[in-house]
Amino acid sequence: MNLKGKHIILGITGGIAAYKSATLIRLLVKAGAEVQVVATAAALEFIRPVTLSALTGKPVISEFFTANTGEWHSHVDIGLWADAMVIAPATACTLAKMATGVADNMLVTTYLSAKAPVFVAPAMDLDMMAHPTTTRNLAMLAADGVHVIEPASGELASHLVGRGRMEEPEKIVEVLDAFFGKGKTMQGKRILLTAGPTIERIDPVRYIGNFSSGKMGYAIAEEAARRGAEVILVSGPTSLSVSHPGITKVDVESGREMYEACLKHFPQCDIAIMAAAVADYTPAEPRDKKIKREHEDVESIRLVKNPDIAAALGREKTSEQKLIGFALETDSAIDNGREKLSRKNLDAIVVNSLADAGAGFGTDTNKISIISADPSQDITTYPLKSKDAVAADILDYIETL
Ligand code: PMT
Repeated sequence: MNLKGKHIILGITGGIAAYKSATLIRLLVKAGAEVQVVATAAALEFIRPVTLSALTGKPVISEFFTANTGEWHSHVDIGLWADAMVIAPATACTLAKMATGVADNMLVTTYLSAKAPVFVAPAMDLDMMAHPTTTRNLAMLAADGVHVIEPASGELASHLVGRGRMEEPEKIVEVLDAFFGKGKTMQGKRILLTAGPTIERIDPVRYIGNFSSGKMGYAIAEEAARRGAEVILVSGPTSLSVSHPGITKVDVESGREMYEACLKHFPQCDIAIMAAAVADYTPAEPRDKKIKREHEDVESIRLVKNPDIAAALGREKTSEQKLIGFALETDSAIDNGREKLSRKNLDAIVVNSLADAGAGFGTDTNKISIISADPSQDITTYPLKSKDAVAADILDYIETL
């Protein structure tokens, strides 16, 4: 029932399980979804396009152009139209192309353009499934945030028995339905979230800043809004924008401005998540005119401490509110995280370290551990994942608090 009105791209690749696509479409349409098939040429050797288009009510897209009319199919438009993309069956070949970005057909090109969550239901012979290459490709896709619908074990088309059978269409629909149903788990919650860097003006042309891109915080904002929360995103300067109507963005520049915005909104919020990289210090006397080298030699700038926003919220929070901090470390990450957790009176802290490749500033991935203030829960460690997937892990964790 969560699939009503959802736009689903069904990617079909060339495996014998393609015959199950007809049932999958039937179930998706029955659940109220609109389905657009994007099939590889090999898939259409297994199932006729007329069967698929009769069930979806839309022509099957397989090529970049329709040969007789010259009509161009925009993979970008299809990618943006979708609420989810499901590739079922996903062959070893397509998984490898997706993992490495080999966009030599309409399906993989659409995958690269899709902004929506992507699901793959692998289907192949048991030895191909068990091959280290396939395992590696699936791990890479999972790290990129792709949801893998694990294949079942049983009799395969080769008559061998083992793991590699595409999950049944009913189960795939169940997974999608549960995914969209998840959107409501934070309904009625109001979340204050900080993201991005702060910049501290020295004069009108120079500032002290840091390398935060805002990607981590914005990913949490989008995921929380998708789960039904009302999000107040207090953001330092970034090049990012938000797309969900459940997010109200408050733009700030300096740590002081971020502090004031947070103090104003916190009393109305149930949860605060502090993902911003706030400058600890700010120039004591910012100039209102550009400092000119010809006129004065500036060898040092006197700095004063910025207010600690997380610590201030930690002092203000009521027993009904949850406060989650972040710690960005370069060494002794867990020890430093624990110290900040207790000093700032947080309920949990998300620790990420620049010592881990692919973690921290700027990247599209992150590797985190979450330390709880509740000693019985202590520490949960996660593998390297896309920031979207990390955002989901963080919110899953917060939902348990
Ligand atoms: O934006 P990205 O490029 O995606 O990178 C994400 C990130 C690395 C910025 C993010 O994952 C992260 O770790 N954010 C916190 C960075 C940081 O400033 O950590 P910290 O250890 O210096 O601060 C500890 C906590 O206190 C943080 O929750 C911070 O927001 C908060 N703080 C710090 C200083 C201050 N004056 N006020 C604060 O509220």
